[in-house]
Amino acid sequence: MGTARGFGIDIGGSGIKGCPVDVEGGVLADERLRISTPHPSTPEAVADVVAEIVGKFGWDGPVGITLPCVIKNGTALTAANIDEDWIDTDAQGMFAKRLGRAREQIVMLNDADAAGLAEMRFGAGADRESGLVVVLTFGTGIGSSAFLDGQLLPNTEFGHIEVAGRDAEAEAAASVKDTLELSYEEWAPRVSRYIRSLEKFLWPDLIIAGGGVSKKAHKWLPLLQTRTPIVAASLKNDAGIVGAATAAAQRA
Ligand code: BGC
Repeated sequence: MGTARGFGIDIGGSGIKGCPVDVEGGVLADERLRISTPHPSTPEAVADVVAEIVGKFGWDGPVGITLPCVIKNGTALTAANIDEDWIDTDAQGMFAKRLGRAREQIVMLNDADAAGLAEMRFGAGADRESGLVVVLTFGTGIGSSAFLDGQLLPNTEFGHIEVAGRDAEAEAAASVKDTLELSYEEWAPRVSRYIRSLEKFLWPDLIIAGGGVSKKAHKWLPLLQTRTPIVAASLKNDAGIVGAATAAAQRA
């Protein structure tokens, strides 16, 4: 008997990654494929890349797809770090058409919600069935997902709260660290300030820190000064793919 498989695609501002996933073990079932995000990253241009990735694996089942956007009923409602043409695009319908599938075969999720689902099921939040867990992904922007007693509250967008009069992700995203060439010691106080702002109105039991920069979590998590216990994500860069694939396999 083979393992249950799903297929996940994670669309980001710099890369589009996809892979079949073992949705019982929460691990990639093949070598993932990454193609640079086209510029401009319009829905049509991105759909071509998604079709190429799905085609390369000869996958014909349901597909879970993430976007760095608020998503309701398959439609993208915001577009930070991706082309503005996504706003009000029926992404689910568009991908269904482009991939030659029924609408129900495509599941659209916010990228941080997908990463959070994977962490809560297979990763750092796997033993957290009760309480409030917030997953923050530090990358080009800051993504967030929130789970109360294991249930996702979708589209939280905590990366856009105001910190010292500015959009939080302009202050504390991992891309800010890179652009300003900050050391971990210089970047960590920005992250602390951001999380302390979040803590003014939320009392999570745990924060899980994800995104590419979580691979080096030992260099900056110990420097943070927050009220909430904070741990590193364990699925790292694959969380979005795994979460998307799992969501699609469950709903199919
Ligand atoms: C977007 C979110 C997204 C996050 C991470 C933010 O700018 O508003 O929807 O989850 O970036 O990509």
